Amino acid sequence: MSELVQLGAPHDRPRPPRADELNLRFSEQGIHELEALKTHYPDLKSCILPGLWIAQREYGGFLDGAAIAEVAHRLNRSYAEVEGVATFYTMYNTAHKPGKHKLELCTCLSCHLCGSYRLRDYIKSKLGISHGETTEDGLFTMEEVECLDACDRAPLMQVGDQYYGPLDEAKLDALIDQLRNTEGSTVVKMADEIVQVHLRDVERHK
Ligand code: FES
Repeated sequence: MSELVQLGAPHDRPRPPRADELNLRFSEQGIHELEALKTHYPDLKSCILPGLWIAQREYGGFLDGAAIAEVAHRLNRSYAEVEGVATFYTMYNTAHKPGKHKLELCTCLSCHLCGSYRLRDYIKSKLGISHGETTEDGLFTMEEVECLDACDRAPLMQVGDQYYGPLDEAKLDALIDQLRNTEGSTVVKMADEIVQVHLRDVERHK
């Protein structure tokens, strides 16, 4: 099987929880934030994207079936509609639970020509992970992503809300050491930052 086919292989979607299995887990803060966001949009459908960011934070970075069901329940939308939105955008983690840090390596044309496949192989040898895999200690997930729109910094990697590039093996070593020893922009922290951006928008337009 070619590499491209493997990368595009479908993953199993979780079975939607039945109504009697619904286990709502949003914190008081999350509920409060969602209520504030609901006032900002003309209808609840428009609130799905920010609602999913709250869920991604509240569920530890992973939108499993329970997380999607909770957003659907709180916004009075169908599970299928919310899941359709969540699985359309790659910034939502629906395929697998990510590690604390997500290493998003661009392997699109400019980065490919500047050595991102070499870096991908280096990550595999250093951390033992390929596309969609997480280290055993749960610290790092690696994903190959499409153009991050900063081709002048190729080969480029995104970690949380930060871009790193042009990268080479030495810079990658230093970055991984830094992420091991600091919080950095984790998957959960980034979700929270995006929620706060939405909330600031609500405040601005009051
Ligand atoms: S091709 Fe990598 S940022 Fe554009």
